[in-house]
Amino acid sequence: MAAAAPISPATGDFAERESQLYMRTFIRIPVALARGEGVRVWDVAGNEYLDFFGGIAVNVLGHCHPAVVNAVTEQVQTLIHTTCLYYTSPQLELGQLLIENSCLDRVFYVNSGAEAAETAIKLARKWGKHHHNGAYRIITAENSFHGRTLGSLAATGQPHYHHDFAPLPAGFSYVPYNDLDALQAAVTDETVAIMLEPVMGEAGVYPATAEYLQGARQLCDDHGILLILDEIQSGMGRSGRLWAYETYGVEPDIMTLAKGLAGGMPIGACLAKDSAAAFEPGDHGSTFGGHLVSCAAGVATLRTIIEEDLPANVRQVGAVLGERLAALAAETGAIQEIRQSGLLIGIELHEPVAGGVLTHCLEHGLLVNKTSDTTIRLAPPLTINEEHVDQAVAILGTAIKAATAD
Ligand SMILES: Cc1ncc(COP(=O)(O)O)c(C=O)c1O
Repeated sequence: MAAAAPISPATGDFAERESQLYMRTFIRIPVALARGEGVRVWDVAGNEYLDFFGGIAVNVLGHCHPAVVNAVTEQVQTLIHTTCLYYTSPQLELGQLLIENSCLDRVFYVNSGAEAAETAIKLARKWGKHHHNGAYRIITAENSFHGRTLGSLAATGQPHYHHDFAPLPAGFSYVPYNDLDALQAAVTDETVAIMLEPVMGEAGVYPATAEYLQGARQLCDDHGILLILDEIQSGMGRSGRLWAYETYGVEPDIMTLAKGLAGGMPIGACLAKDSAAAFEPGDHGSTFGGHLVSCAAGVATLRTIIEEDLPANVRQVGAVLGERLAALAAETGAIQEIRQSGLLIGIELHEPVAGGVLTHCLEHGLLVNKTSDTTIRLAPPLTINEEHVDQAVAILGTAIKAATAD
């Protein structure tokens, strides 16, 4: 077999080469990134970008944070993999940090958000079988996003993602988000849990109202069922508190985490209160779950967030970013609504020009994301300062004006 030609940054042939190699699942943004440091990344040609998307809300400490780099380096030089069949210290340390700093009592590690959702679904079903008369149905929100494996996809309330993959696991009901009456009406004797994102991220950043999330908690208490909160995007300080549930004064029975949990290394986790932790030996498992390198990175990430009080930075810089965006809305007249939870922001445009805005931002050195033709999403590292905000908003303003004039 002939050796594959090395990919040459100089020839810039990434798009053509990958079109022959990969399954066509991604529409790539036309830039090949090579290096990152803090809030900035550089492409293969050396162009610099301010990263206000953070690898889909993952890079909570920015790129290559020294605490994460050191933890990963030390761990790969010590022990990389053992499986969960042995005791290891990074898993325990991360578990201790998670439990001491949340309202939950127990943790199960996986490798991604979808797997964390699968774990939560299985856990709720097991609990329902043994503690709630065999109830198994889970109510989720329309337009929610919980992942792309079959179970997490079934929980995801977006039929357009379902169509080609039917039949999906049964037992899910979908209700409009932020509509307490609809939630109440959907609960039956077969319901075991309500599963919600405190802030719907992939849908375009829609925070739950306090009334809704508190009402959901009350509903669960009234019916003796479980509240599962998906904090995969909203957790790890992004909301301005370590967990978004704290901003609502509501405690979940089960919480799913992934994304920023290990500062860029792959990991996921499902946490539960003792009362909901119904798994027994053999019920669930994962060869790579709780990977030592990811857990070491998780310890470094969580410690840094807590010790440097990054949620406080999120509240302070997030408020400035919100003000600057409101001023931009007034100046351009192009923005219909700004939805915000800390450093997770959805900018709703009047016109369907989000793609154009993204392209113009890229040309001017800013990475942002779009969740629809009218919605720009920002999820920068939690470490940004006002200078980064000023630079980003200036580029965003230029890009919005250019895209609406195109
Ligand atoms: C709220 C939420 N849940 C679950 C997931 C799925 O996570 P992953 O892509 O790691 O499987 C995502 C990913 O965007 C998410 O935002």
